[in-house]
Amino acid sequence: MSALSMVTHSIGLTATIATSYADPFTVARQIASLDKISKGRAGWNAITSNPGGLANYSRSHLRKADLYPMKKEFLEIVEGLWDSYEDDAFIRDKKSGVFYDPGKMHPLHYTGNYFSVEGPLNISRSRQGRPVVFQAGTSMEFMDIAAQHAEVIMAPGDQFEYLKRFTAELKRKVQNQGRSPNDLLIMPSHSPIVGETEKEALEKLREIESWMPKGYRLPKPQLMGAAENVAEKIEHWYQEGVMDVLLIRQDYPAGFEDFIKLVVPILQDKGIFRKEYEEDTLRGNLGLPYPENRYKK
Ligand SMILES: Cc1cc2nc3c(=O)[nH]c(=O)nc-3n(C[C@H](O)[C@H](O)[C@H](O)COP(=O)(O)O)c2cc1C
Repeated sequence: MSALSMVTHSIGLTATIATSYADPFTVARQIASLDKISKGRAGWNAITSNPGGLANYSRSHLRKADLYPMKKEFLEIVEGLWDSYEDDAFIRDKKSGVFYDPGKMHPLHYTGNYFSVEGPLNISRSRQGRPVVFQAGTSMEFMDIAAQHAEVIMAPGDQFEYLKRFTAELKRKVQNQGRSPNDLLIMPSHSPIVGETEKEALEKLREIESWMPKGYRLPKPQLMGAAENVAEKIEHWYQEGVMDVLLIRQDYPAGFEDFIKLVVPILQDKGIFRKEYEEDTLRGNLGLPYPENRYKK
């Protein structure tokens, strides 16, 4: 991610790190470092991952039921560490020799069931305040924590009706937390297959199937067909509030390029995909609010 940040200017850089198999202080430091290095373009995808890994990460005394309580502590700690210094804590006045205002440095003193972290972090806040927090999951427990801490949600994206219900429930929980429902973006993941025509898209699907064991049939993705039709579907999902961001997965080797060449220009004409980046931070380009430091008076 650091290497990518050196050869790009505008894209966001979001890394997945599971809260079940890492330590919050390390993660806070890694992602905040990336945020500095990339000048405010870092994100963290905080997922629990699956309990199978507990045995490989010295945590075999824990159970699946531990994963979400653990994740909650993890997020509270990382967010707390990212607020270690208020935005104006560093005075750096050569004349008076004052480097920083210790009153604006805040250790965390966190003691939990899974993690205990004294703080402070040794990194100040970034241009976007702090990295953007992504999360992925579907269960009620997931939603309860996401409603409080997530800014972008990765969701399974194959069924419109499911997404409508999921989004409505999640946004209701977000509001109960006193947050604006607009401050949480929904990012369904899709593997689109597009062509200039319906027939061409179908041929691509058949080609993918031909690489698989004999007789294997892939379910037709929702976003499949002629570019115009796919763009219309995306517009509909966007307007219905279930797709603020589209996460593209790809089975077809040329799929990314197909999508960029055939679908993106139509989305741009419709005014629902940008032609230029609006801002120079990930948070800014996602239209998410600047998070004030919790200690700001
Ligand atoms: C869209 C989506 C993407 C996910 N991506 C990952 C991933 O990259 N790595 C991973 O270990 N788990 C990933 N997960 C799994 C979650 O970490 C979690 O284990 C799973 O959602 C089960 O929890 P839940 O029943 O509470 O949703 C993903 C889940 C979803 C829904």
